[in-house]
Amino acid sequence: MAKIAICPGSFDPITNGHLDIIVRGAKVFDEVYVSILNNSSKKPLFTVEERIALIKEVTKNIPNVKVDAFDGLLVDYADSIGACAIIRGLRAVSDFEYEMQITSMNRLLNDKVETFFMMTNNQYSFLSSSIVKEIARYHGNIKELVPPEVEEALKEKFAQPSKK
Ligand code: PNS
Repeated sequence: MAKIAICPGSFDPITNGHLDIIVRGAKVFDEVYVSILNNSSKKPLFTVEERIALIKEVTKNIPNVKVDAFDGLLVDYADSIGACAIIRGLRAVSDFEYEMQITSMNRLLNDKVETFFMMTNNQYSFLSSSIVKEIARYHGNIKELVPPEVEEALKEKFAQPSKK
């Protein structure tokens, strides 16, 4: 049976740090679903459709990566697609407490789904979507931080006066 893992997140937008985890996860699992939480309580910069399109574009050369969106509980979604694992990237010790909390809750809700942590590459330890948006908002250089397609999309977003 194919081992399916989910790489869940907001991906608003996907960064090189996310991509690093997805690429490495796809070497370990048969299939990796990059799944965007469709969370109506957050006000994202990119719509779910825009995020899906960007992730599809930047993962198009990885055949065992699928892109999807979900709402509700992650473990229920995992069941619905037959996933046995959740992959999360850890950047620094500061990520640990939050990740431990959601992992414990997920295990309580469904102990058939295992969570795997991967340390992000050192060069991405301090990278987050929020920081990237902050830099892009003020037209700073984000070349090293996101794939070119995402850089372009951010430039377009922040070229629109209403988003400033
Ligand atoms: O990129 P993020 O925002 O750190 O991702 C967080 C995410 C999407 C993995 C987490 O919020 C999540 O799984 N939400 C779905 C709702 C859920 O299952 N909550 C129970 C776990 S506490």
